[in-house]
Amino acid sequence: MLASLERYSDSVFRTLTYNHGADLTFTEMAHVESFLNRNKVSLEKIEPRDATPVQIQLLSGNEGRLDGFLSGFKPFDGFRGFNLNLSCPSKDVIRQGKGAAMVKRAAKTARLVSLIRDHGHPVSLKIRLGLNQSEKENKLYLNNLGGVDPDFFVVHAQHAAQSSGEREDNSVYPECVEVARGIPVIANGGIETPEMVQSLMEMGVGGVMMGRPAMGNPAIFDYMKNMLGVNNPSKPVPTIDDLKREYDDIYEAIGGSEKYRSRFLKVVGKTRPRY
Ligand SMILES: Cc1cc2nc3c(=O)[nH]c(=O)nc-3n(C[C@H](O)[C@H](O)[C@H](O)COP(=O)(O)O)c2cc1C
Repeated sequence: MLASLERYSDSVFRTLTYNHGADLTFTEMAHVESFLNRNKVSLEKIEPRDATPVQIQLLSGNEGRLDGFLSGFKPFDGFRGFNLNLSCPSKDVIRQGKGAAMVKRAAKTARLVSLIRDHGHPVSLKIRLGLNQSEKENKLYLNNLGGVDPDFFVVHAQHAAQSSGEREDNSVYPECVEVARGIPVIANGGIETPEMVQSLMEMGVGGVMMGRPAMGNPAIFDYMKNMLGVNNPSKPVPTIDDLKREYDDIYEAIGGSEKYRSRFLKVVGKTRPRY
């Protein structure tokens, strides 16, 4: 899966990664309130442009406002449901009781999940390992894994006080998988090699999500699937120059944004492996 990437994962980038092996993509996060206020920037994030499979990522901490938004929402080709963001580490978002602040609020999360289901939509959760080291040590994230029933969980194996450069703690996955009671757990964070995917699969995760590695190489999904024998036969993996040309073709076909294009060109081919 392609991770939500604010300022990067617009529909052109999502389609490029889908063409090269990402089975599911996610919009950038947006506050439910910003849709209710008809905020133009937020509405553009969810404007359907093609049939690439996508879940819309929401920041929400309030059933009434979520219900209001869902009542006016119309699914489109490619729409695969909503992803609730319980992982955003921004202080502003946490102050509003959203993002990573929701990790320990399993009862509230369960109500938001039911509401989305009642409106007839699939729903997933993206969680972190709590707000800080102490929440992580107390394993508060297991409340959600054990008490909420989304279609799948994405677990970003860091707590919210960690910097993005710090190493993820993949040792949490076997317990996450056990507590999740058969609901798939998707691993996320610092997954850069087929060997890492293999070892996570051996821990029982149902799949992986990649963000920064895909910014550097949007075809990393097919590369991984080739190496792991998931693509059988293997699919050709394009060069970075081919990917830039393909980006422009999609950009023309579905109508891209110049801002996203220039950010894409700054990172593609340039992200260095961290491990
Ligand atoms: C530029 C950037 C923007 C991000 N925006 C979001 C976002 O909108 N929603 C979200 O849940 N996570 C966001 N993240 C976190 C990623 O989805 C992902 O969880 C994190 O980067 C770890 O995965 P990775 O090591 O594969 O990049 C963002 C990360 C980056 C680098």
